[in-house]
Amino acid sequence: MKRVDDFRLQLGGKELVPIVIGGMGVDISTAELALEVARLGGIGHISDAMVQTVSDRRFDTKFVSEKLKKYKTNAASSDKSSVHFNLAVLEEATRYHVGRTMEAKRGDGMIFINCMEKLTMNAPRETLRMRLSAALDAGIDGITLSAGLHLGSFALIEDHPRFRDAKLGIIVSSPRALAMFLRKNARLQRLPDYIVVEGPLAGGHLGFGMDWAKYDLATLVAEVLAYLKSEHLEIPVIAAGGIFTGSDASAFLEQGAAAVQVATRFTVTQECGLPDKVKQEYFKASEDDIEVNTISPTGYPMRMLKGSPGIGAGIRPNCEAYGYLLDANGRCAYIDAYNRQVELHPDAKKVKVTEKTCLCTHMRNFDIWTCGQTAWRLKDTTRRATDGSYRLLTAEHVFRDYQFSVNQKIALPD
Ligand SMILES: Cc1cc2nc3c(=O)[nH]c(=O)nc-3n(C[C@H](O)[C@H](O)[C@H](O)COP(=O)(O)O)c2cc1C
Repeated sequence: MKRVDDFRLQLGGKELVPIVIGGMGVDISTAELALEVARLGGIGHISDAMVQTVSDRRFDTKFVSEKLKKYKTNAASSDKSSVHFNLAVLEEATRYHVGRTMEAKRGDGMIFINCMEKLTMNAPRETLRMRLSAALDAGIDGITLSAGLHLGSFALIEDHPRFRDAKLGIIVSSPRALAMFLRKNARLQRLPDYIVVEGPLAGGHLGFGMDWAKYDLATLVAEVLAYLKSEHLEIPVIAAGGIFTGSDASAFLEQGAAAVQVATRFTVTQECGLPDKVKQEYFKASEDDIEVNTISPTGYPMRMLKGSPGIGAGIRPNCEAYGYLLDANGRCAYIDAYNRQVELHPDAKKVKVTEKTCLCTHMRNFDIWTCGQTAWRLKDTTRRATDGSYRLLTAEHVFRDYQFSVNQKIALPD
């Protein structure tokens, strides 16, 4: 049986180990993790989700407190339409995050950035254009477009000098979404350099409805490969979602995928941005502790641990500081859900909001514990200390396990 290391991903004149670590916002897939993966010859992702907050944490900038200061007087109002991002600040934060990461890059791999269209930021087109172009300016190797159909995203950067040289890819969960993307962008004569096909077992938001369990990744990959063949297109396809072992990965490579994208197994590595306490929760999880729910204001189902502190927490919307999910009219489904509860319980000091969650605040604070469906198997990937805690792994250990293991084996740390 073949192992992952028997395959290589050809991209931009490079030969890469065909392992991509998916973007995990907000700064769960840290620069440290991405850098390590690039050093090992694969592709690592950083994420531009809530980049101003991330920059404050990484570089001690004060972007969040400055935004909050500007809009503080609006905090008690449920009308957030006046709360805007300053594009120059957004550019600066993106340049810091990407630029410093790229300066530190060593090795033959690549570093991409994950850009979610659903971060509409009260001015979807303008902010997305700035996020994409600032990342290109700062030297990112590639951009993975996610959480949305991105029908207009290529056009936003068509005049950028790096539009044709940087690697640009899209995440889809159906051949239909891919066909729409390609049709819409045909006039630009610029195909995506890679297509991530993400199945229903992935972490984060899902590109399916609540009927996600009806779908399976191998079928979706086969459908996308068949579609590309019928269109005479040769674009590398990257399979993602639920790939837990090296053998799972090599089965997709044998099926015709050019690489795999994985994430959940890296959530319990030392380089991952989750607090160590939360990593232990991921290790401890049983299958029953994982759910797909509809509390994300984006409208996409999201998978997470049922014990996530952000579920049901009725905090006041925090859009003056963050506001990444405000739509073009300054609205967010959490604000509406929160207001309904406040109206129902006018005398309550604190309300419980179960319908939606304040995703910005809770992701920023690592209180929504999103994970892939395989998270309950993480406990089988490490050793346990005498105090019952699980030993964190290095990203190198997990990467090499994917690269070299066979027969569904998982290498435990020494
Ligand atoms: C903690 C976590 C956070 C994630 N955040 C994002 C994200 O911000 N954007 C995105 O496109 N995908 C996100 N994903 C999906 C991953 O990038 C990846 O495609 C998927 O989880 C791969 O499946 P696996 O976790 O079963 O290996 C996230 C996944 C996890 C586990």
